[in-house]
Amino acid sequence: MPRSRIAGIGMYVPENVVTNQDLTQWMETSDEWIQERTGIRERRYAHRTEETTTTMAVEAARQAMDMAGTTPQEIDFIVFATLSPDYYFPGCGVLLQRAMKMREIGALDVRNQCSGFVYALSVADQFIRSGMYRNILVVGSEKHSFGLDFTTRGRNVSVIFGDGAGAVVLQPTEEPGRGILSTHLHSDGESAEILAMYNPGTHANHWKEEAYAAFDEADIGQMFFSHAMIDQGQIYPFMDGPAVFKKAVVKFPEVILEALHANGLQASDLDMLIPHQANLRISQFVQQRLGLRDDQVHNNIQSYGNTTAASVPIALCEAVRLGKVKEGNLVCLAAFGSGFTWASALLRW
Ligand code: ACO
Repeated sequence: MPRSRIAGIGMYVPENVVTNQDLTQWMETSDEWIQERTGIRERRYAHRTEETTTTMAVEAARQAMDMAGTTPQEIDFIVFATLSPDYYFPGCGVLLQRAMKMREIGALDVRNQCSGFVYALSVADQFIRSGMYRNILVVGSEKHSFGLDFTTRGRNVSVIFGDGAGAVVLQPTEEPGRGILSTHLHSDGESAEILAMYNPGTHANHWKEEAYAAFDEADIGQMFFSHAMIDQGQIYPFMDGPAVFKKAVVKFPEVILEALHANGLQASDLDMLIPHQANLRISQFVQQRLGLRDDQVHNNIQSYGNTTAASVPIALCEAVRLGKVKEGNLVCLAAFGSGFTWASALLRW
């Protein structure tokens, strides 16, 4: 059975740099607070109208295909991870297929937030291993800046996120020991509502009585989208940051060690850990727990913020371009986020 390998990788971040200081014009926050709690100095925001989750994905995908020596017509399947799609439906997979003038191939959308890319990679890996497809485009792309609460009410969430896209082309390899060694996926829906965007949705706030009370029962149309939802900020992401932090620092090391142990390896064997860029403090905690040196972990949240599904491929792409990931290196990709869902992938570059 062939393994899959990343034959090409690409990334795109918008030109528009938004510093912590820039955010103070909209909300009560400070560069000092943001840097101290998250490590973030700046992030990129997409052009309001000209850049979308799909257009950024196209840029990253072109680079990945160039590196893999693949044309859009040769791609057999798309797996697209995002929590900020162009439309509520259809998903971005078909928009990417259309934009790149690909054949009438399958296009799958993955909704696993911060672990979306690792989930997407795992799905693609299974299709390559089974022999079903030979060229799969796996993408993570986010345009967060369109839907954040830029008032002080939303500051614990909005200062964290940034826009961008990353993409890889997966192909089969017969080279012994190379490629994706294993992937590991997990979820625990018990805390689904502590990191979520509630509306618009079909839940009708059945779990949250005070919000439900705000609905006008006579107006069935308001169940999906209403002025009350806007007034209460339910159309923006909600996060209980400290609770997410506590879970993340347990699950990150756990899923990384799971991948290593499944392959008879240990943390000291790792050449590079690419953690999802949720918070620099989380990455540093994980690094310390695993006893890794600074040169064994690549972080770039300082420059891009948390780009959710795009963060792992952007960080991997950067590490490759900086020469931090070289041929034959053992690399672990790991992510944790909303759901909760968490995942890892161990690969030999
Ligand atoms: N600027 C200034 N003050 C702020 C800001 C801000 N941007 N945000 C919150 N504060 C204030 C709060 O109001 C609070 O004030 P109070 O003490 O007067 O009530 C104080 O700072 C502390 O707030 P906390 O929320 O406890 O701050 P914390 O130290 O936990 O940091 C953070 C918040 C950065 C969000 C952190 O909890 C975190 O990173 N959590 C994990 C995030 C994560 O991993 N998410 C998963 C990925 S995202 C996804 O899956 C979509």
